Formats: sequence, structure tokens, C-alpha cells
Amino acid sequence: MAKKSFPLSKVYGLLEPGPVVMVTTSRDGNPNIMTMSWHTMMEFEPPLVGCVISNRNYSFGLLKATKECVINIPTVEIAEKVVGCGNTSGANVDKFKKFGLTPKPASKVGAPLIEECYANLECRVVDTSMLNKYCFFVLEVVKAWIDPKVKNPRTMHHLGSGNFMVAGKKIKLKSKMK
Ligand SMILES: Cc1cc2nc3c(=O)[nH]c(=O)nc-3n(C[C@H](O)[C@H](O)[C@H](O)COP(=O)(O)O)c2cc1C
Repeated sequence: MAKKSFPLSKVYGLLEPGPVVMVTTSRDGNPNIMTMSWHTMMEFEPPLVGCVISNRNYSFGLLKATKECVINIPTVEIAEKVVGCGNTSGANVDKFKKFGLTPKPASKVGAPLIEECYANLECRVVDTSMLNKYCFFVLEVVKAWIDPKVKNPRTMHHLGSGNFMVAGKKIKLKSKMK
């Protein structure tokens, strides 16, 4: 079947890597939440995660200044809150209050964990060399938390323009990766 040209502006929806996450930051006791899908694994251990956080977002300044954040991984049960946090700015809204999410203290960083997310990764910024050009932060995960009760997390994967795929069936194949 003949292929048709695909708009470059929609390419990201084909390559969207992992789950949509919620990044929390905090300054002077004021926490914020930002929805993010442009992230990529860069190293196994210690885990390094690269991510693009636009300098138009309130979170950009908080992360640049504090060099600490938490990557919170939500499931489809809180989809409306996830999208809500991606369509409002912490510059004028307390998103924990507005979306009824619960901040819990992290163990190693100042930003809070979101209780309603099944996994939380406490991170420190370790490289900002591509910040000016690409708004690209390299984060090191310094502590990770998981809810053992959640056996098959139904994570959300952004396909672009408000469309999401929800993680489903698992398959296992032989692999040399740990
Ligand atoms: C599904 C989804 C994915 C998003 N991914 C990103 C992203 O990877 N990087 C980014 O800078 N903004 C992303 N956004 C947009 C921000 O979440 C949005 O601009 C938010 O309002 C920023 O909040 P803040 O101003 O409080 O930091 C995404 C939004 C949605 C809904």
C-alpha cells in the first residue's frame, strides 16, 4: 500500500517513548506540577533521564534554580488530573489544590512526591550543557519509589493532540538486558 506524506509537526507522536509523567518542583515551600512526555532514558545505573522542559513553563525556572525535581508516574485512573496539570501554569495556580493531588515529602530532594502516582523518582539535575539551545535537562535519579500493590500499571502514552494510548497486555521475550 502506498505511503502518504506525514506532517513533520506530528512525528513526535510516532516516537513518543515512555509514559506521560508529572514533574514536581518546589521553591520556598511552594510546590508545582508539570505534565511531561518528552523524556528519554540515557543510562542504567545510576539512572540518567534526559528531558525537554520548555523555558515558557513555570517549572523551567524552578528546576533551573533548585536543580531538584521528582518524576511522578501516573496511571489512567487520574488521566483528567494529568492533562489538567499540563494545561495550567503554576505561575498562577496551586495545582495540588486545584486537582486534588497529595504532596508527600521526598527523602533526598526538596520537591514533593505525588501520592496518587504509582511510582516516584527523586532526581537531581546533573547536566545543563544543552539547556540554552534545547531546554534539555539531564537528571540523575537518586531515589526511586514504587507502590507494590499496583501490579499492572496502566500508564498513559501521548500520541499528540490530546490522544493517549493506555498500556495494556505485557509480553516477555528473551533479552540480554537486566
Ligand atoms: C500530555 C502532555 C505532555 C506534555 N509534555 C511536555 C514536555 O515534555 N515538555 C514541556 O515543556 N511541556 C510539556 N507539556 C506542557 C506542559 O505540561 C504545560 O505547558 C504546563 O502548563 C506547564 O506547567 P507550568 O507552567 O506550571 O510549569 C505537556 C502537556 C501535556 C498535556
